[in-house]
Parts: sequence; structure tokens; C-alpha cells
Amino acid sequence: MNSPSISSITLILFLILSCSSAASADEHDNFLECLSNKFKNTTTSISPNLIYTPNNSSYTPILRFSIQNLRFTSESTPKPLVIITPEQETQIPHVIYCAKENNIHIRIRSGGHDYEGLSYVSEIPFVILDLINFDGITVDAEQKTAWVESGARIGALYYRIAERSRTLGFPAGVCPTVGVGGHFSGGGYGSLLRKYGLSADNVVDARIIDVNGKILDRKSMGDDLFWAIRGGGGASFGVILAWKIQLVDVPDRVSVFTVSRTLEQNATQLIHRWQYIANNFDRDLFIRILVRRVNNISQNTTIRAEFQSIFLGGVDTLLPLMQESFPELGLVREDCIEMSWIQSVLYFAGFPIESPEVLLNRTQPNVRYFKAKSDYVQRPIPEYGLEGIWRLFYEQEADEAEIILSPYGGIMDNISESSIPFPHRAGNLYKIQHLVYWGENEALNSDRYISWIRRLYSYMAPYVSRFPRAAYMNYRDLDIGVNNNEGKTSYSQARIWGFKYFKNNFDRLVRVKTKVDPGNFFRNEQSIPSLYSSWTKTGD
Ligand SMILES: Cc1cc2nc3c(=O)[nH]c(=O)nc-3n(C[C@H](O)[C@H](O)[C@H](O)COP(=O)(O)OP(=O)(O)OC[C@H]3O[C@@H](n4cnc5c(N)ncnc54)[C@H](O)[C@@H]3O)c2cc1C
Ligand SMILES: *[C@@H]1O[C@H](CO)[C@@H](O)[C@H](O)[C@H]1NC(C)=O
Ligand SMILES: *[C@@H]1O[C@H](CO)[C@@H](O)[C@H](O)[C@H]1NC(C)=O
Ligand SMILES: *[C@@H]1O[C@H](CO)[C@@H](O)[C@H](O)[C@H]1NC(C)=O
Ligand SMILES: *[C@@H]1O[C@H](CO)[C@@H](O)[C@H](O)[C@H]1NC(C)=O
Ligand SMILES: *[C@@H]1O[C@H](CO)[C@@H](O)[C@H](O)[C@H]1NC(C)=O
Ligand SMILES: *[C@@H]1O[C@H](CO)[C@@H](O)[C@H](O)[C@H]1NC(C)=O
Ligand SMILES: *[C@@H]1O[C@H](CO)[C@@H](O)[C@H](O)[C@H]1NC(C)=O
Ligand SMILES: *[C@@H]1O[C@H](CO)[C@@H](O)[C@H](O)[C@H]1NC(C)=O
Repeated sequence: MNSPSISSITLILFLILSCSSAASADEHDNFLECLSNKFKNTTTSISPNLIYTPNNSSYTPILRFSIQNLRFTSESTPKPLVIITPEQETQIPHVIYCAKENNIHIRIRSGGHDYEGLSYVSEIPFVILDLINFDGITVDAEQKTAWVESGARIGALYYRIAERSRTLGFPAGVCPTVGVGGHFSGGGYGSLLRKYGLSADNVVDARIIDVNGKILDRKSMGDDLFWAIRGGGGASFGVILAWKIQLVDVPDRVSVFTVSRTLEQNATQLIHRWQYIANNFDRDLFIRILVRRVNNISQNTTIRAEFQSIFLGGVDTLLPLMQESFPELGLVREDCIEMSWIQSVLYFAGFPIESPEVLLNRTQPNVRYFKAKSDYVQRPIPEYGLEGIWRLFYEQEADEAEIILSPYGGIMDNISESSIPFPHRAGNLYKIQHLVYWGENEALNSDRYISWIRRLYSYMAPYVSRFPRAAYMNYRDLDIGVNNNEGKTSYSQARIWGFKYFKNNFDRLVRVKTKVDPGNFFRNEQSIPSLYSSWTKTGD
């Protein structure tokens, strides 16, 4: 038994340790001082016009600019002590240096799409390193490669590729405003998934700044770190500056269609059937399903499934293929449109296909309050299982809920689980994204919507992957487990969420982290723990 005196010593020690990892007001001032003065004499200083403190009128607009989930705009959401928007690579080591010196916590932000706001929210005092000025894209159409800086958005990347060639593309996400810094480091997928895999599967080099402020490329960072940042999340390992990617071939003309079916039009049976075939289709064919409740005054409320597709070829090839593999959908020529690949990007993103310039716009038109979750399906869900989902969709909170079913198979079956940290390969029929949205007027009722999606997630348990119940890291979900705030998370605590995102790759990620950032400087609620810091004090 501990004597009382030992417990009180433990308590005091605990308090000292806890306080040491939160920045004091002095440390905050010293940090700013360090940023502005320490390197005044060099070309690498951070000029004051790249630093935004809360008393500056541009602070809130800069903070808000990249926020993609209104849940994290409330008054009560913790705000950064300062936002730093460097313009040159060589300025970033100094930010890291000053932060370490003064025990200041950093959040790195590229496109700001993190589902739980981890790139711009922290419970402990922090600053944002916002890579908004790092948006350069250089395409080499002859070599079929490109260098893309972290703050660039995938829409701009698609645009710059198409500007150089009509027959080159890149496999990444659907929403053009997503930033490549978070997206590629967490996987990144879209409608080319079955043909070419993830964005991270097509990264061939990268530049990163490590915890010591060193700028590394693929060669100097070594195989382990280069492996880790392609799907293991950048935020655990350093500041990713840029990626070199392998562009992929796309045909001169692709075909797209969107076919909607309601319950009255056999939506349930069609979705049920799709589960058996979508992962076995020709790799050039990608058909995802978006399911929502529709509230139409003149019709009865029902569930509508949208079968949205891209085929890497012409309609004349597509129609017989569909007739052979999915005749039940009843696809006809009139449903299909032929277009260039870049137009298909606009089509999937819901923009008019005539004006690709909209892809350069970094403002997402429809920022909402939302909560999302992900699941992997390995055996088809029976029709009664689907009908149970529809019952949940008839509840009031599901007014603007949606599930998106994305087929796997194709090349995903031919990439090994340990090739990169993203492990969800052969054996998965498809991935589900569960989403619930709500509006400003319901902001105070956010908990109702969040508990609705948690109910949906519990309902799904018997139908989806188990041991682990797998999840996609880029659909960040803090419900599946979090680290402790002080950065002293144990391996077993982090493994709860880590095993779901990474399966057995989690262990290798922990080894890489322990090697490259033993003191756990780069951390958040779901960062890879360092074995060293899990039993020692951190933050110094
Ligand atoms: C509207 C919307 C649509 C989406 N569509 C898709 C989709 O089609 N396919 C898909 O796969 N995903 C999609 N996502 C998810 C998206 O891939 C992830 O949210 C991704 O992490 C976003 O990257 P970001 O740079 O925009 O986000 P951020 O919030 O800036 O970053 C996300 C995480 O990465 C870290 N990070 C960011 N930049 C760096 C860097 N340079 N160095 C180190 N760490 C860094 C951040 O600290 C944070 O932890 C979508 C998200 C939204 C909101
Ligand atoms: C610039 O400042 C740094 C940090 O204070 C110092 O170490 C260095 O000697 C200075 N260099 C010159 C040329 O003054
Ligand atoms: C606000 O900050 C920006 C960037 O540091 C600077 O250019 C501007 O002068 C500041 N404005 C005020 C009113 O302090
Ligand atoms: C704004 O805040 C910074 C840091 O807290 C401080 O140095 C500066 O004097 C303040 N400026 C004004 C105009 O209040
Ligand atoms: C729905 O399926 C049934 C049974 O297969 C079929 O008879 C009916 O015509 C289908 N309805 C529609 C609208 O396709
Ligand atoms: C309801 O559905 C019908 C048929 O699909 C459509 O013509 C009509 O515009 C819809 N009405 C509303 C209010 O959405
Ligand atoms: C609407 O619902 C009623 C009662 O369930 C049903 O009789 C009717 O056929 C439905 N109408 C449509 C258009 O589905
Ligand atoms: C960018 O998109 C936003 C949101 O749709 C819009 O308000 C804005 O006008 C657009 N900007 C440009 C330059 O087109
Ligand atoms: C790809 O994986 C599938 C399913 O496991 C297998 O049938 C096929 O032979 C593999 N193809 C190649 C080229 O490895």
C-alpha cells in the first residue's frame, strides 16, 4: 500500500508534469519573440506579415478560410494562440525550433478537411502552421510525373494536369478543395480507385521537415519514413512540404452516368445485387451508390439510391458490359454522357462540366455541420439488413443523412496489405461512408445528430468487418478511440484506434515514430505514439 506521503508526492509530480506540457503565457510571448527576432539576421526569418495573433482583424478570416466542418467554428472551440502562414520552406524549421524551445504545440494544416478538425483545434494551447501559401504544382507531362506542394488542392492538381494533357489523370478524391497534405498522407481515393488504387499508392517521392528541422527527401528520409507518410498520416511524423506523384493514363473519352432508383423502383434489390458484382466489374468501371431519404411533397417519402459511375472508355463499350454484368439496373444509352476525364471530375463534384476553372477555387461552396464514420463490408448485407438501415433513415435526425458505398476490387486486390500503411485491400467488397449533416439553426442540437449516427454505426456492427472493425483514416472519427492529451499515450491505448485504421501496420508505424520523433513533438488525438514518450515525460 502507498503511504499518504508518497501519494501526495505523486500528485505534486503529476501536477508539475501536466503543467509542463501546456504553454504558459510567458512561453507564448517567448515563442512570438523567438519567431520575430531570433532569425532577423537571416534570409529565413518569418516576417511579421506571416503571423496572425488574435487581436489582428485577419486572424478570424484566416482561421475560418480552410475550416470544412462548421462543428468546429463555435465560440467554445479552442482557438490557436497564433496562426503562421510561411511562404518558404526554409522558414518552417524556425517555427519548429521556436515551438520546441517554448513548449508550444503545433497543428499542421493544408486543406483543413479533417473530419474532426484536428488540423486547427486542440485542447492544449497550440499554434497553427497553415500551409496555405504552399500551393505550387509542376506537371511534367513527358515523364508523367508532378510535384505538388502540400497546401495545393486536388481540384487545382486535376486542372494543371488536364492543362498539359487530355490523357493523363491522377487517382485522388472527389471534392476539389481537399488539400494534398492530409489527403495523400492518409490514403486518398476517388473514382479511379479500382484501376489505379489510392493517391498514396502513386506517390514516388516527398519532401518533409522532421522534428530537428531537417528537410528530407525520399532518399534522405529512408524507406521506413517514406513508407509511413503514405497512408499513416503526416501529422505524426513531420511537416510534409510536397509530394512527387506518378500520373496515370486516362482515355481521351470517358463515359459517366447517374441512375436513380427509389424503393418503389427496387432500390433495395439493386443495392443487394450490386454488392455481389461491383468489386468484380472490369477495372475500367467504377459504380458507387449514394443513398439518401428523399422528401418529395408530391411523392411519398422514400429512399433513393443513386448509382453514379465512370467508365474509362466509350458508351459503345460500356453498354454491352453493363448488359452482361448488371442488366438489372436497366442502363440505357440516354443515361450516359461521353466527356473528357477532366469533365468527369467536374461531373462527380457536381459542377457544370463546361468550366474547369472552378477547380481552382479553394472555397468549398457547401460547408456544413457534419459527423461521419466509415465501415468495410466483406460479406454482402442481406436485404433485411438494408431495410433496417432504411428504418433509421426515416428518423427525423436523418433528414440530411447519407451513406456512400464505394466498390473495391480491381487493383485494390493486388496490392499487399503492408505495401503502405493503408491496409484495406483484398477481401473487402466495398467501403461505406456514413454521414449526417445539419444546419446552423440546429447547431445547438448537434448532439442529437451525432447520437443518430452512432446508433446507425451500432446497427451496422453485425454486417461489417470485425476484428478489427476497420475504418479509413481520412474519415477521421474520434469515437473509435483517442490518445491522452498530455502526449503520454501508451501503445495499448493507441492501438485501440490504430488497429482499426492500420491493422498490423500499426506496429511498424510505432517503430518509425519512435525512431523519427521519440519525444512525441508531432502529436494529436490520433497520432502514432512513440514508445519512448509513453513512459517518459514529453514536451521538452
Ligand atoms: C468535403 C470533403 C470531401 C472529401 N472527399 C474525400 C474523397 O473523395 N476521398 C478521400 O479519400 N477523402 C475525402 N475526404 C477526406 C480527406 O481526404 C481528409 O480529410 C484529408 O485528410 C484532408 O486533407 P486536408 O489537407 O484537406 O486536411 P487537413 O485538415 O489540413 O489535414 C488533415 C490531417 O493531416 C495533417 N496534415 C495536413 N497537412 C499536413 C502536412 N503538410 N504535413 C503533415 N501533416 C499534415 C493535419 O494535421 C491533420 O491531422 C473529404 C473530406 C471532406 C471534408
Ligand atoms: C544570427 O542570429 C543567430 C541566432 O540568434 C546567431 O546564432 C547568428 O550568429 C547570427 N548571425 C549573424 C551573421 O549575425
Ligand atoms: C494583421 O496581420 C497581418 C499579417 O501579420 C499584417 O499584415 C497586418 O498589418 C495586421 N493588421 C493589424 C491591424 O494589425
Ligand atoms: C497584438 O498581440 C500581440 C501578441 O499578443 C502583441 O504583441 C501586440 O502588441 C498586440 N497588438 C495590438 C495592436 O494590440
Ligand atoms: C422490381 O422487381 C420485381 C421483381 O423482380 C419486378 O417484377 C418489377 O418489375 C421491378 N420493378 C421495377 C420498377 O423495376
Ligand atoms: C417530386 O418528384 C417529381 C417526380 O420525380 C418531380 O417532378 C418534382 O419536381 C418533385 N418535387 C419536389 C418538390 O421535389
Ligand atoms: C404512397 O403511399 C401509399 C400508402 O402507403 C400507397 O398506397 C401509394 O401507392 C404510394 N404512392 C407512391 C407514389 O408511391
Ligand atoms: C469560389 O466559390 C465560392 C463558393 O461557391 C464562391 O462564393 C466564390 O464566388 C467563388 N470564387 C470565384 C473567384 O469564382
Ligand atoms: C489480382 O487479385 C485477384 C483477386 O485476388 C486475383 O484473382 C488476380 O489473379 C490478381 N491479379 C494479379 C495480376 O495479380
